[in-house]
Amino acid sequence: MDFSFFFQQAARSPLAPHLPALEQALAQVDPQRHGDYPRWCQALEALPRVAVSHFEFDQPVVRVGRQRDCNDSTRSAIETALLGLHPWRKGPFDICGVYVDTEWRSDWKWDRLARHIAPLTGRTVLDIGCGSGYHLWRMLGAGAELTLGVDPSLLFQMQFRAIAHFAGAQPVHHLPLGIEQLPPAMGCFDTVFSMGVLYHRRSPFDHLIELRELLRPGGELVLETLVIEGEAGQGLVPHGRYARMGNVWFLPSVPTLLQWLEKVRFREVRCVDVTATTTAEQRATDWMRFQSLPDFLNPADPTQTIEGYPGPRRAIFIAET
Ligand SMILES: C[S@@+](CC[C@H](N)C(=O)[O-])C[C@H]1O[C@@H](n2cnc3c(N)ncnc32)[C@H](O)[C@@H]1O
Repeated sequence: MDFSFFFQQAARSPLAPHLPALEQALAQVDPQRHGDYPRWCQALEALPRVAVSHFEFDQPVVRVGRQRDCNDSTRSAIETALLGLHPWRKGPFDICGVYVDTEWRSDWKWDRLARHIAPLTGRTVLDIGCGSGYHLWRMLGAGAELTLGVDPSLLFQMQFRAIAHFAGAQPVHHLPLGIEQLPPAMGCFDTVFSMGVLYHRRSPFDHLIELRELLRPGGELVLETLVIEGEAGQGLVPHGRYARMGNVWFLPSVPTLLQWLEKVRFREVRCVDVTATTTAEQRATDWMRFQSLPDFLNPADPTQTIEGYPGPRRAIFIAET
């Protein structure tokens, strides 16, 4: 995989001192180890070249190209190639009139946080666990100077590449790395997002400290995670699965997570939104044909997960270094 455009742009950014370490981390990634990699490469190679001049990164649907930029047969080739990268979880996107109706309405999450964060204009932004990169494009649309997303999923790297194929040279980058593969204490980002990742980490305090150390002094953390209702000190450690997810370690209450953030020395810590996830926000579509939230809730009581835990409820926290 070629990351030369990232290294070119990042050399002129606050990331510059960390590029040798990032190069080393990327050298450890062997995409051939993933059995689906050749199939995904074929899907990317099948994407037609289209001269695209219209972009919308500041609207709910990330739109690259217009209907009139290509004919129906090219559009059908785009659709077939993009479907070769199924399942599409985070979006929605519209590529030259092909509407990628993803499992999640990720724009709803963006709407819940956008008015609460420091303006992104001119900022260098990191999105940990960025999935296909949907929110990276929204960050660009909000004025960020450079956005970098990291996610260890190779499929999501390929989905990002598919969108970037049409979007061209933009200051938006995606690396197939987990947070633990980043150089320690980079301390160079103005804003760091960690959304939907904390509950996948075995050690929540270590994750919060890693996030703090990625930020420059005075930088802003935007943290989104599953929570439960409850008092300070309360939380849920699911025994086995939570909403069919096998790798959920800890769901704190809002007051508990506020205390954790203060304990690891974040300042100006606040919770700006708590929203129960609905089956309108997360559901199966033609672009994600596996089971989804409606299958993970108790049919007799949809306020509970199928395992009998409180249904998914997500909170957004903002804090400063
Ligand atoms: C629930 S999704 C959230 C995606 C996106 N941030 C959002 O909020 O819509 C969690 C993402 O975290 C990624 N992830 C899992 N372990 C990770 C790690 N160690 N470092 C970074 N990302 C990770 C997964 O691949 C997945 O894309």
